[in-house]
Amino acid sequence: MPKMWAGRTSGNTDALADDFNSSISFDSVMYKQDIKGSMAHASMLAAKDIISKAEADTLIDGLDSILSDLESGALEIDYSCEDIHMFVEQVLTERIGDVGKKLHTARSRNDQVALDMRMYLMAQTDEIISLVKSLALAVTAKAEEHKATIMPGYTHLQRAQPITFGHHLMAYVMMLLRDISRIKDCKKRTNVSPIGSCALAGTTFNTDRFYEASLLGFDGVCQNSIDGVSDRDFCIELLSTIATLMMHLSRFSEEIILWSSWEFKFVELSDAYTTGSSIMPQKKNPDMAELVRGKTGRVYGNLMALLTTLKGLPLAYNKDMQEDKECVFDSVETVKMCLGVFIPMIETMSVIEGNMLRAAQGGFINATDLADYLVKKGLPFRSAYKISGEIVSYCIKNGLVLETMPLDVYKSFSPLFDEDVYNDIDLLICVQKRISFGGTSVQSVERQIEFAKSQL
Ligand code: ARG
Repeated sequence: MPKMWAGRTSGNTDALADDFNSSISFDSVMYKQDIKGSMAHASMLAAKDIISKAEADTLIDGLDSILSDLESGALEIDYSCEDIHMFVEQVLTERIGDVGKKLHTARSRNDQVALDMRMYLMAQTDEIISLVKSLALAVTAKAEEHKATIMPGYTHLQRAQPITFGHHLMAYVMMLLRDISRIKDCKKRTNVSPIGSCALAGTTFNTDRFYEASLLGFDGVCQNSIDGVSDRDFCIELLSTIATLMMHLSRFSEEIILWSSWEFKFVELSDAYTTGSSIMPQKKNPDMAELVRGKTGRVYGNLMALLTTLKGLPLAYNKDMQEDKECVFDSVETVKMCLGVFIPMIETMSVIEGNMLRAAQGGFINATDLADYLVKKGLPFRSAYKISGEIVSYCIKNGLVLETMPLDVYKSFSPLFDEDVYNDIDLLICVQKRISFGGTSVQSVERQIEFAKSQL
């Protein structure tokens, strides 16, 4: 097949060079955007009398037939074409004859590919947002179920203070809400049309970029044609928001993996989201969570790869930019796959409340509350902190816990101790007293749940 761009050169490229140069194996996923973009382009050309109305109709009918044939499977992508843009134009010309050759008037593949990418990624971001929303709702539902389930809260992975599992889960919901807001924000900047920038300098034809953009549903147009064909910030932004989202899923995965271990046994994943071992019959491995954690590395790599590809590029279009697709598509597909399995994994995860409570009962997790008790009795916090520390040390040496240490022993540390100390260090009460905004009390977690629901 002679090259469409044969002209100055013979177009007789080496077969290896053809393979190397080609992007159709990965950019064919944008066939719909490419065809819709071309339909709008034909309409605009006719509206501005650059081609006739009849020619535009022929082009649009031809493009429409290509779209439906691709969708039905009647037409297959020809992978020997250089890219999806060339493929569509070639089939169009085969089907409708010379009128097909008019489609590329006042357009270049440089603005065409930028347009296709923006349209494709806007559709993908909608899908990602809806998946993140479903996950946030699933986690919120779990949090609601466990708004009074006591567990140890950790810092440095050491038992720190009692919290509720609902409170812990809502922390992840807040991350997911920020992820949604970041993706929406990125979409705003993706939602401007580059088409009509042409190769880089604009065109001598009397085109209407605003009209063409409005036909495609864009909010606006790129202001500078050189930037229009060179800008891949929207890809970088999406890769970065996906990387952040994956970082959240990965942290969550890490906790689920830890909680599933025999050492913790705070949760049990459904059989549907675990695997066995080919040799150890007792195993139930959290592979899905591990893979989410593992894939996060590749998603980070995609961001670095594109940043590095772009860093040395002079304006305007350079073929290096074809490298944007594989990393962006890979991150998009990966995050969708991860979310797809994460949602039901969370929904079907059972929580072993007794183990969470037992873990919260060890480790002197209420020592801060013991210090707070003395502060309320009039002692400065630093002194209260010191006495409480000495009590914990005494308990460890004598195999006691704060809840059961006799009152006369308490009194030997400070005369301020009274019978009511046992109330103040009761785990449920420790949790319920933390009514500060955003805190762990049931009432406060309910407020967080309400907030999340209002956002979702
Ligand atoms: N396949 C190319 C890409 O993805 C399309 C643009 C080609 N432009 C060019 N001047 N060769 O970037």
